[in-house]
Amino acid sequence: MLQTLIGLLVLGGIAAVLALLLEIAYAFIADYGECHVIINEEKDLAVEGGSPLLATLAEQGIFIPSGCGGKGTCSLCKLRVLEGGGPLLPTETPYLNPEEREGNVRLSCQVKVRNDLRIQIPEELFLVKEFRVSVEDIRELTPAIRGVRFAILSPEEGITFKPGQYLQLRIPKYKLSKEPEFRAYSISSSARDRHAVELVITKAPDGVVSTYVHDFLKKGDELTVTGPFGDFFLRDGDRGILLIATGSGLAPVKSILHQVEEERIERKTTLFFGAKTPNDLYYFDRLREFEKTVTGFKLMPVLSRTTEADEWEGEKGRVTDLIKKYIPDNAGVDVYICGSPVMVQSCVEVLTAKGVPEERIFFDEFE
Ligand SMILES: Cc1cc2nc3c(=O)[nH]c(=O)nc-3n(C[C@H](O)[C@H](O)[C@H](O)COP(=O)(O)OP(=O)(O)OC[C@H]3O[C@@H](n4cnc5c(N)ncnc54)[C@H](O)[C@@H]3O)c2cc1C
Ligand code: FES
Repeated sequence: MLQTLIGLLVLGGIAAVLALLLEIAYAFIADYGECHVIINEEKDLAVEGGSPLLATLAEQGIFIPSGCGGKGTCSLCKLRVLEGGGPLLPTETPYLNPEEREGNVRLSCQVKVRNDLRIQIPEELFLVKEFRVSVEDIRELTPAIRGVRFAILSPEEGITFKPGQYLQLRIPKYKLSKEPEFRAYSISSSARDRHAVELVITKAPDGVVSTYVHDFLKKGDELTVTGPFGDFFLRDGDRGILLIATGSGLAPVKSILHQVEEERIERKTTLFFGAKTPNDLYYFDRLREFEKTVTGFKLMPVLSRTTEADEWEGEKGRVTDLIKKYIPDNAGVDVYICGSPVMVQSCVEVLTAKGVPEERIFFDEFE
């Protein structure tokens, strides 16, 4: 038994060393020269081989969604590699279901360009642009959440996005990063303002990009964002709209509320906004204002950690408690949820148990 275990460990060790040597060889010895990436059987890009497909496409002005900056942890960068992608890597398999594997779906941040490739990407990604932005204003919304307003410097015509979509914010290298990094952040402002965007960023402990935003970013700094990305946006219809948000998940939901206000959408709209304490209910005055300007809009805050000193007379508990209490069985609503994966999952479970069809529930999840 012990011998078998030692044998397995030795074999595993040899395999790991060989894989490492192979990567070193790829990085320093291999010269892939010019490779061709054929996109949707239409575009033929001549590129320098050797880099991940995600980065190679970005250099060519084609921006694939990414939440983790190419670390292989968000799975947003999926696309079809029809030819030349090499074998599926162990870093990709946990994120691909059998259907996706069968359909040649790959994580573009994991596939390296080592030869000619044939790939397929959704047409709308050709509309994604890179924007040069400068920090116009920074607000401490809560001790852990910063609101940052960026003026769009270029291109001159500004940005067009659907409320609910997100951007990728790129920061320069600094003490927590060896190279420039980028992460996804939802736009919280109105889509009518084409020359500025506001983001809401929670500080993650030791998080590379959020720490930069909280501890180093200052007014006047210039950065790059790409976008817009994502399919978290309002669907047409006449059903009621139930918005559910916690933490920085309020960002895309607030942008959708601006849309409901500006387009005078007359659908009964409710926002369940979950937080821990009254101090975590940021943008509260603006949300209350929507109650005055949007016919049929109701804001329902709910707090999970109040003390007597808070003198909180509103709802207590979690957003799932509000669903249980106020949403009737088989309610005719479209639901838009944004918050942590655990919160999103719990809401989906409670809603589907109440008979809300899964196809009427839309969500974006992030910590
Ligand atoms: C579609 C989408 C939209 C999003 N919108 C928003 C938004 O509007 N607002 C927002 O705040 N976020 C949003 N996010 C999340 C955001 O993209 C980042 O994931 C988040 O800001 C963390 O990035 P980071 O670089 O700060 O942390 P990372 O460096 O990526 O770290 C990720 C996690 O690992 C932990 N970690 C890092 N280093 C260590 C270490 N050495 N030891 C232990 N733990 C460590 C961090 O605490 C963090 O929790 C969104 C994500 C997606 C996918
Ligand atoms: S960019 Fe996040 S998994 Fe590829």
